[in-house]
Amino acid sequence: MHIAIIMDGNGRWATQRGLPRTAGHVEGAKAVRATVETAARAGVDTLTLYAFSAANWRRPQVEIAALMKLFGQYLFSETRRCVEQSIRVNVIGRRDRLSDNLLRSIEQSERLSASCTGMHLRVAVDYSSQYSILKAAQRADRVNPQDGDIAPADFERLLHEVDHSAADAGPVDLLIRTGNERRLSDFMLWECAYAELIFSPRMWPDFGVDDLHAAVREFRGRDRRFGAVAPPLTRRQEAWLD
Ligand code: IPE
Ligand code: IPE
Ligand code: MG
Repeated sequence: MHIAIIMDGNGRWATQRGLPRTAGHVEGAKAVRATVETAARAGVDTLTLYAFSAANWRRPQVEIAALMKLFGQYLFSETRRCVEQSIRVNVIGRRDRLSDNLLRSIEQSERLSASCTGMHLRVAVDYSSQYSILKAAQRADRVNPQDGDIAPADFERLLHEVDHSAADAGPVDLLIRTGNERRLSDFMLWECAYAELIFSPRMWPDFGVDDLHAAVREFRGRDRRFGAVAPPLTRRQEAWLD
């Protein structure tokens, strides 16, 4: 199962408490550990967390600097914990606009956890799904200029290349967005084609283990049809409806 989370609401969490927005990001970063470790224990195959969008460069410089510092600290402090739990870390998104220091931390985290066979943790930083799709389309054109036709699986391979993602990340099954907003904000538009969407009113720093369990329970109760028709009701379900 692949779960993706748009971790939204750090700024409002802080503002509601009379704190600077950056204090919300500090609390938000602390909240990541419980979600990662719970998902890993629950047997989730892939967890993709939206940490910084390409559009987030529009924020004030001090906020951007605080966020970049927090990613570096997160990778530094959490990689060892992840390796102990056999969690493979992978940062997806553009890399050409990140600082050399952060790039080094990313490469080190990925190298240290490369042989982990448990959950695959992907953190999206400087990520834009539209950008990735456009770049992958350009590459597809270059790889296959004559006949223009490309199989979805080959296109996905190019998307993973553009995103610096490991090749084995499949489509998203469950997308959760916290922070009481109901939009995708340019997150994994291709991969979420048949994702179940859950929007939580919780601000990200308050999103806890119980909220994750509740979301997965709701997901399990959903009827995923992928364009086909629903399977017939069992006799027990029919009896219950009468
Ligand atoms: C999510 O929280 C973190 C990032 C986007 C980096 P926000 O900072 O968007 O919090 P709100 O939406 O302003 O409350
Ligand atoms: C989306 O949140 C990006 C992340 C959570 C990292 P934003 O808060 O930046 O999204 P918009 O601007 O409200 O759509
Ligand atoms: Mg937000």
